[in-house]
Amino acid sequence: MKTIRTVPDLRAALNGPRRAGRSIGLVPTMGALHEGHLSLIRRARAQCDQVVVTLFVNPTQFNDHQDLAAYPRDEARDAALAAEAGADVLFVPSPAEVYPRGFATTVTVDEISAPLEGAQRGPAHFAGVATVVTKLLNMAQPDVAFFGQKDAQQVAVIRRAVRDLDIPVRIEVGETIREPDGLALSSRNVRLPAADRHRALALRRGLDAVRACHAAGERDATILAAIGRAAMAELAVEPEYLELVDPDTFTEIHSVGDEPVLVAVAARVGDVRLIDNDILDAGR
Ligand code: PAJ
Repeated sequence: MKTIRTVPDLRAALNGPRRAGRSIGLVPTMGALHEGHLSLIRRARAQCDQVVVTLFVNPTQFNDHQDLAAYPRDEARDAALAAEAGADVLFVPSPAEVYPRGFATTVTVDEISAPLEGAQRGPAHFAGVATVVTKLLNMAQPDVAFFGQKDAQQVAVIRRAVRDLDIPVRIEVGETIREPDGLALSSRNVRLPAADRHRALALRRGLDAVRACHAAGERDATILAAIGRAAMAELAVEPEYLELVDPDTFTEIHSVGDEPVLVAVAARVGDVRLIDNDILDAGR
């Protein structure tokens, strides 16, 4: 695996394979790699001839300076893990490489960016994500880019930007990878103090309660959400939001019909902000 730090070097490294008709897969990350990231890298490895993993802690998508400062960084560890999972190229640009002096262009995706994570983290969050992902897609020009279902709203925002801006890439989504007890893997989990680790299960418990209630025949979104909140309250966790939404548009759903519905939840456990989601699908 080669580590590359500039856009011209990345382009040069990918030129040969592209001309030879080899497919390129891109896995954007902010590092602190865990099994969730590695599952995406392995998936890219299985499908593509050249696998590019990007490692860039994107400052513009952080709404909280402390969260940015506390974000775990260990390039040597990430490089070893990415190589082992099958990456051919690790792209590690500096902030100045991504945002050169005078940088003035932002990709904003209206409507879909506004609720839930957008409302909690502010409008700059998804603008930061959409802008950096658009740039990474332009830098590497992959055939396929891989993202995790864990960040369901991020996936919806990226899909929309790719469609609206005619970016020639296929977006693939990998399932959420979890700890054995159900906690969704997140780079922030390492910041959970032991005393809060058990309470972090509240998100999954809430989602499981909604799923069980839906399976028992309940279709009213307000009731389903209330059941989820009650399950979380048993672990003394109050969600920032627990909502049923359309998985493509992120508009609120009032009654669950035959179309798949996304149940999205976010909560602070101690100092750590966690998110999770589940899909209710009549066919499942
Ligand atoms: P990051 O949080 O590092 O996540 C990188 C990718 O890994 C994202 O697509 C995310 O959805 C996926 N991922 C995280 N946890 C996962 C889990 N438990 N199971 C499956 N996939 C998981 O998301 C970002 O970085 C950034 O916003 C980025 C897209 C890189 C833009 O800066």
